[in-house]
Formats: sequence, C-alpha cells, structure tokens
Amino acid sequence: MGSELIFRGHESQPVSDTYTPKQPKPWFSVTQPIRYMLREQRLVFVLVGIAIATIVFTLLPPSSTSRVEYGHFTIPETTTRLSQYDQKPMYEHRSAFHMYSSGKVPLGLKRKGLRIVVTGGAGFVGSHLVDRLMERGDSVIVVDNFFTGRKENVMHHFGNPRFELIRHDVVEPLLLEVDQIYHLACPASPVHYKFNPVKTIKTNVVGTLNMLGLAKRVGARFLLTSTSEVYGDPLQHPQVETYWGNVNPIGVRSCYDEGKRTAETLTMDYHRGAGVEVRIARIFNTYGPRMCIDDGRVVSNFVAQALRKEPMTVYGDGKQTRSFQYVSDLVEGLMRLMEGEHVGPFNLGNPGEFTMLELAGVVRETIDPDAKIEYKPNTEDDPHKRKPDITKAKELLGWQPKVELRKGLPLMVSDFRKRIFGDHKEGGATTA
Ligand SMILES: NC(=O)c1ccc[n+]([C@@H]2O[C@H](COP(=O)([O-])OP(=O)(O)OC[C@H]3O[C@@H](n4cnc5c(N)ncnc54)[C@H](O)[C@@H]3O)[C@@H](O)[C@H]2O)c1
Repeated sequence: MGSELIFRGHESQPVSDTYTPKQPKPWFSVTQPIRYMLREQRLVFVLVGIAIATIVFTLLPPSSTSRVEYGHFTIPETTTRLSQYDQKPMYEHRSAFHMYSSGKVPLGLKRKGLRIVVTGGAGFVGSHLVDRLMERGDSVIVVDNFFTGRKENVMHHFGNPRFELIRHDVVEPLLLEVDQIYHLACPASPVHYKFNPVKTIKTNVVGTLNMLGLAKRVGARFLLTSTSEVYGDPLQHPQVETYWGNVNPIGVRSCYDEGKRTAETLTMDYHRGAGVEVRIARIFNTYGPRMCIDDGRVVSNFVAQALRKEPMTVYGDGKQTRSFQYVSDLVEGLMRLMEGEHVGPFNLGNPGEFTMLELAGVVRETIDPDAKIEYKPNTEDDPHKRKPDITKAKELLGWQPKVELRKGLPLMVSDFRKRIFGDHKEGGATTA
C-alpha cells in the first residue's frame, strides 16, 4: 500500500524497507569549491571585478538630487526634510556632527566647511564672528533685522558664494538647513534695548525659542550669547558661573537681563528635554571696531566724545568697575565654545578690572590728553562691580583673552575716527 502511494511511473521502482545511512562524502568534496575557483583563472576574474567596482564607486560623485552635506559627511535628504525632522533623524546629524566637532578629521583629508547661521551677524560682535567663520572656509548665513546692525559691517563678503544675508526678525520663525547656529540677535546696548523693552524681551524669548526650534528640527548645534547682566548687581565678586545673580525683575534693564536669563533657561530646557546640543556664553563688556557710535556703552561713549572734543560723561562717582574685552578675544572664545564638548555657561571676558575713571584715563592717553570729564547722576540699576572669573573657560576651553586695553583701544579709535570724520573705509579690522 505504501509503495502504491509513492508510485509515479510505469516502471517498477526498487522498494526497500531497510534504512541505509547516507554515505559520508569523500574528504576531497570540501576542497571542491576551492578547486573550482582555481580552475581556468576564475579567481583572477573575481579579483579584477572587485577592483573595477572599487574604482567606479570611488570616482563616481554621489547623486546630487538626493543628498545633503553635513560637514564632511553626506546624509540622504530624506532624513533631513523639515516635515520629518521632528520624528527622529536628529541622532543621524548629531553623530556625523560629533565626529567633526571633536576635530577628528582624518589626516590628509581637507576639512569641509560647515553651514552656519549667525543671527545678529550684521552687528558689532556678529560681523567679526562672520569674518572668522568665512576665513575658516565655512558657509555663513547672516540673519538680521538691522535694528542696530549695519550692512556695511558685512558688505565685504557680498559676492562670495559662501555668504548669504537675510533680512529677517528672529521673532518670526525661519526654516534653514544648517549645522550650527550662533544666536546673537538682540540689541546689546542700554540705549537700544530700553528703546522698546517689550520688543527686547520678545527678541530674547520668542527669538530664542524660534532658533532653538530650528536647531531641534535640523539637528544643529546652538550657541546662545548670554551676558554678564544675568548676574545683575552682583553680591559676589568676581563672578563665577555658579553664582545665580542679584537681578531686579521689574527695573528698566529687566527686559534685557531677565530676557537673557529666560533665554538661558529655554536653552537648557531644549538641551535636557529635546536633546539639542547647546552652548551658553556669558559675555562681559566687549569693545572694538564696528561698535555702534553713541550707543551709550561706556567705551564707545568715551571714544566718540574724546574724538569730537566733547567732555566724557561719567555716571555716578566713576568708581564702578568694568572689565573690557577686545572683540577678537571674544570671537575666539565663542568659536572654541561652539567646537568644544562643554555646554557651559562660560564667562567670556577680560578679568582686567578698570574703574570708569581709569578707563577715561586710558582714552585720554590714546586720543587727547586734554579731554575733560563731565559727571552725571548714575542710571537706575547700574551694577557697581563687574569682573569675570574665567577659570572654567581657561580649564575647559583652553581660552583666555590676549589683547590688553591699551593695545585694543587704538584699533577701535582708528575705526571710530574714520566713521565720525567721514574717512570711510568700512570693515574695521579686528586684529590687534
Ligand atoms: N558687546 C557686548 O559687550 C556684549 C556683552 C554681553 C552680551 N552681548 C551679546 O552679544 C550679542 C551681540 O551683541 P553686539 O554687541 O554685537 O550688539 P549689536 O547691537 O551690535 O548686535 C546685535 C545684532 O542683532 C540684530 N538684531 C536685534 N534684534 C533682532 C531681531 N529681533 N531679529 C534679528 N536681528 C536682530 C541687530 O540688528 C544687530 O545686528 C547680543 O546678543 C548681546 O546681548 C554683547
């Protein structure tokens, strides 16, 4: 019966009920594939095939329609489209970025430029930062509403294909594909930030939210330029990053001070909550070419007044202290912070401390030994002392300021002289 079931043909099949174990293969069957390969130079053909494929894939450029470059990496565009950013591609950008940011570019390979947004890039600090980034070979997009910034500060990059300028208010959202965001947009001088305090706080809060949102979507690293004003009128001297400050929340400077404090809070919340890579710099008084003339900041005030042969205005008794950092030192610190591995906050300032009267003395030495001083009552909430403790930046960023006031001031003076007296050659140099 069993034999009938398996019957398929008309010829009789040998039927056997006994189990016969399979014969072990002779040992040489293992070497059969090897012998097959060696016969008729097949191995040579395989090796030649591999070599040709390697050459073709090395020489052919990746398809230009479907890939986006991130630093020296290329990521399929499907992972970077804005509609998909919120879902998850963040880690892909990040891992690629991480390798670049820690400086591990393989020897012999030329570092490819990054795409970087600088908000407030037409302003004083921003324009010097843009110069350094352009010099390094990066592609820079400046976003500025020109409230206090000037096109003249970045005009020398017009026509360079790696440079773009967008007139835009950061209070409105903006979509761009970038690797890094330096967020500087905010009026920095009391005259300007008190002009429209509600707008100042909106710029600090809504503007920072928008830029953090962008950083989250595109997986960019975000750097906030905060300020020593977050320490308010400090009860601790010099100020260390761990000090929480002594700030008036309802004063005329609060739009700036509290605005920056909230911007720091938002930055840390995006970092903790959304995994955005962030950096926070707390900048102390900075001076240099391209500062706004007559913006109420003490160095620009004294220099402009001395050049115009007007008395230098000292508020209060002139014994309040400030530290003055030359702009190239600050830019170096910002770039080190962005490229480094530490979130911060970091104090970036020059610890050399001067009273207002001492500063007036240096301005006299530099511009006019006969310059007069005029005393006026102090402004509300003007801090009495300001001096950064920069131990953290020294240790973790390997940074410290190099340019002394007596070396940096003449560079600023020659830029102011040109702008005030009309000898116009824009684009004051930073180098001291
Ligand atoms: N210079 C300093 O001594 C100092 C000290 C502490 C902190 N900071 C911070 O550094 C950053 C740059 O300061 P700065 O001295 O170059 O000031 P700045 O006024 O010269 O530059 C600010 C730039 O931001 C732009 N801007 C302002 N509001 C904007 C908005 N809503 N949208 C788009 N652009 C806008 C301005 O037009 C300007 O170009 C600021 O965030 C400031 O708070 C500077």
